[in-house]
Amino acid sequence: MKHARLMQYCSEYWEEALSENKIKITINGIETLCDRDDTILKVAKKIGVKIPHLCNDKRLEPYGGCRLCIVEVKGVPRPLPACTTPATENMEIITDNDSIRKLRANLIELLLSNHPNDCMRCERTGDCKLQNLSYEYGVDGSRFEGEKWDLPIREDNPFISYEPNKCILCGRCTRICNEVVMAGTIELTGRGFNSMPDTAFKKPRTLENCEFCGQCVSTCPTGALTDRKGRGKGRSYDLKKIKTTCSYCGTGCNFYLNVRDGKVVKVTSDTDAPVNQGNLCIKGRYGYDFIHSEDRIKTPLIKIGDKFVEAAWDEALDLIAEKFSSLMKKHGNESVGAFSSSRCTNEENFLLSKFVRTVFRSNNVDNCARV
Ligand code: FES
Repeated sequence: MKHARLMQYCSEYWEEALSENKIKITINGIETLCDRDDTILKVAKKIGVKIPHLCNDKRLEPYGGCRLCIVEVKGVPRPLPACTTPATENMEIITDNDSIRKLRANLIELLLSNHPNDCMRCERTGDCKLQNLSYEYGVDGSRFEGEKWDLPIREDNPFISYEPNKCILCGRCTRICNEVVMAGTIELTGRGFNSMPDTAFKKPRTLENCEFCGQCVSTCPTGALTDRKGRGKGRSYDLKKIKTTCSYCGTGCNFYLNVRDGKVVKVTSDTDAPVNQGNLCIKGRYGYDFIHSEDRIKTPLIKIGDKFVEAAWDEALDLIAEKFSSLMKKHGNESVGAFSSSRCTNEENFLLSKFVRTVFRSNNVDNCARV
């Protein structure tokens, strides 16, 4: 009886789902429903099937450049890229077998044949998609001989280091600059073997032609683009990542402070961050020097005459309480109030509001973001 009810529930579920413009496809024998315009890669990810890829980033339009995501589709005589192929009704897909693995291994081998393969000193070791795939597919690129890029490292700007020899021409940096940031700072330049992401006329990046948001660095799957400020300060596995909210404005972007030995050495963000999907501005990504600045005020200062004098916290808080009390005694509770800031978190703004209403017994509380 229980079994019959379950069967009925299942068939009702499928009927309802199919009537909502969903289609049924099968990936590695797993039947699933998806939207008509979903790509195979997107559906596979949703059901937990891993398909390797290098040129895909969910912030970007599908590109189909690296071909690492190839899969077999029943009835199609050649492999198809999962990132650009839309799912169709009753499609049957195989994402992993000997022949697919062989093709992927060949592709990785070709990429490595024009790559420095200097993982032992590369900044991205441990966090490089090409390195991880080479390990997974057991390839080293030594079979092919021929010309290799031998271009100098470019550090002609304050924030981004560019090692062209490590570029795999996946186009993620140029696409994110054009599709997401809409700055158009870099584009694929040159032809054939000489193709290369670069600025117009190979000019150095400056604030005139680049926003220095670092989105290109965030999407680069190899060590071609890295943050200059974090170079040599620890590989990704050496760094403790602390999730926090940016305090530069009220947008509330999420990011990770990458900390080593108690010092922030880098800022990263992931594409699952709800507010900013891994994107940051120049302040959020690179404006963290103030954290360890010698110029920071670390103790309260009390103004005595014309001078500010360092004080203990108790001393400063007592003075503030005393001044507020005497003001309210003289002019009434409504004579005091507080402004909070959209740079603070919701919790901090709530606390200030609570403090003013319950301690001052005043409703004079406001926030600069209200107007
Ligand atoms: Fe599909 Fe690169 S991820 S071709």
